[in-house]
Amino acid sequence: MKFFADTANLDEIRRVKSMGLLDGVTTNPSLVAKESMDFHKLIGEICELVQGPVSAEVTATEADKMLLQARELSSISEHVVVKLPTTTEGLKALVRCVDEGIKTNMTLVFQPIQALAVAKIGATYVSPFLGRLDDIGQEAMAMLTSIRTIYDNYDFDTQILAASLRHPLHIVQAAEIGADVATLPPAVFEKMLAHPLTDIGLERFLADWKKAQG
Ligand code: E4P
Repeated sequence: MKFFADTANLDEIRRVKSMGLLDGVTTNPSLVAKESMDFHKLIGEICELVQGPVSAEVTATEADKMLLQARELSSISEHVVVKLPTTTEGLKALVRCVDEGIKTNMTLVFQPIQALAVAKIGATYVSPFLGRLDDIGQEAMAMLTSIRTIYDNYDFDTQILAASLRHPLHIVQAAEIGADVATLPPAVFEKMLAHPLTDIGLERFLADWKKAQG
């Protein structure tokens, strides 16, 4: 399973990278809006840092304009993956991006049929938003399992990018189901390694070591 960091903050990306777990980055307009840097410049710097797939989202809602933004974004770096909303207009833009060889990440997916549609057209990634479904009491992991089954049934190449993950258990469940990628907020990277018994165990080892040294 690949791990992407779900952030547009350069310091956070550097921190995750230093942990040795960073395969890529996902951003969205809300995350970019928190940063005080020009959007294209920011995406360029993230690509430099990551040297792997970096999702950058269009903000247009009409297919022709989405395509123009997709072309601009993909010209920033070979690492850019253009995020398109999974709407009718987004699908029209996807068809044209696929024709032009622009890598895509279809975002805001909340049901398996949306994932089936974008895979048929040839999206590079599909992003089911698991946490947001959990938030409203729906079975997020059932959706993920269904998407995995459909993709395996038809041998689709689209990679499943488990998104909107809130905690380490989400990652484990997504990995068991077979998501290709998990995109995690930086705080979840830190939480992944935390266990009270690890801390207590280390404390005891060091105390015993100190005692033996006199
Ligand atoms: C993924 O690409 C999205 O940016 C992200 O996972 C959304 O997560 P949220 O539901 O925590 O905003």
